[in-house]
Amino acid sequence: MKILVLGPGAREHAIVLALLAEDAGHDIICAPGNAGIAQDTTVIALDASNPKIVTEFALAEEVDLVIVGPEAPLVAGVADLLRRKRIPVFGPDKAAAALEGSKGFAKRIMEAASIPTGRARVVADLASASSALDEFGAPYVVKADGLAAGKGVLVTEDREAALAHVQHWAGRGDVLVEEFLAGPEVSLFVLSDGHNVLPLSPAQDYKRLGDGDTGPNTGGMGAYSPLPWLSDTFVNEVVSNIALPTIRQLEAEGTPFVGLLYCGLIVTDSGVRVIEFNARFGDPETQVVLPRLDTPLSSLLYATATGTLQDIPSPVFSSEVAVTVVLASENYPDAPMTGRPLGGLDDAAAVPGVQLAYAATAEDNGVMIATGGRVLSVVARGENFTEARKRAYHAMSLITLEGGHYRRDIAERM
Ligand code: AMP
Ligand code: GLY
Repeated sequence: MKILVLGPGAREHAIVLALLAEDAGHDIICAPGNAGIAQDTTVIALDASNPKIVTEFALAEEVDLVIVGPEAPLVAGVADLLRRKRIPVFGPDKAAAALEGSKGFAKRIMEAASIPTGRARVVADLASASSALDEFGAPYVVKADGLAAGKGVLVTEDREAALAHVQHWAGRGDVLVEEFLAGPEVSLFVLSDGHNVLPLSPAQDYKRLGDGDTGPNTGGMGAYSPLPWLSDTFVNEVVSNIALPTIRQLEAEGTPFVGLLYCGLIVTDSGVRVIEFNARFGDPETQVVLPRLDTPLSSLLYATATGTLQDIPSPVFSSEVAVTVVLASENYPDAPMTGRPLGGLDDAAAVPGVQLAYAATAEDNGVMIATGGRVLSVVARGENFTEARKRAYHAMSLITLEGGHYRRDIAERM
């Protein structure tokens, strides 16, 4: 197959690596990709969020399948136009992607489909915010509507800070005050062809910057899969109680969801609750889910894109586990330092069971340099978590980047 993967990051690199691992001789193009992805396949510099540019390119190249990595192209309507031109695309139309793009829309769908989630209030001003904060009590959860690259959510004990967050985001769209939910988080990816669903293996993401879940929220600093502490029935329950009703609700409203429904969940004492939906693969969870997938990824995504998931057997996952640790630039997530050289990459990639998924990188006269906050994900497989962690951290210790930092506690306690 000729496959176009849209996006610039480590998630897209993990997708490309999984497609290459099929050994099916796929012709894979990644746009815009990055310098790390360019070591493995063709990358093309085009604006992945421009529907017209992407569609013209896909038509000219006679692409069989487009896989959309990030949310921005979805919200911009890239999948809509591709679909109109009859190009199979893995990723929902703009209207269905609002499940991620608008937290208010997501709450409405959840309410309509009786999906278990935290109680929330849309607050328009400081007075309504203030009363919502008091209604739910501390810790306070304030969420900006719309896409905010992980920076829109504040969880705090500090009422003043919660109000300041409301004020900061209030001018730019709706702001939600939500009840705090306590418990471990789970990311479950569910493929949906608009009507049928197929779950992948669960993963856990580490969203906070610092060890022991301290510091600010980030795009994600590490992940592991599977989650040995979950019950055997967990995935089926989430499919029956959350994923399928959500997909059927969207279908009934005339906005079918074709792509990946990312269920961001908290396992509370009184049951599983949705904290967010995303309309695409998670980053860095993809880096640990896909290396464990034994079923060819392209077959799953093509069936999703063409509405034929009911013909496909459930995906098979390896008994091996996977751990990923994200290397970030100095000052991430505030104002990351860029332009610094990376070293030790070949040695790190040579550690048994390890692969590197590159994110913000470019090549400058043969030297790999960091160009943004999250630079790369070190991914390690192993027989068990002790082995996978050891491999991941050994590989990470071989990489040099001035000011670079990473969490030391990924998959340590579970
Ligand atoms: P979100 O962007 O909605 O996934 O929120 C980012 C992070 O904030 C989540 O991964 C949680 O760690 C935390 N969070 C969001 N909503 C809640 C909530 N209602 N209760 C507790 N933590 C939350
Ligand atoms: N890992 C969180 C996300 O992809 O949104």
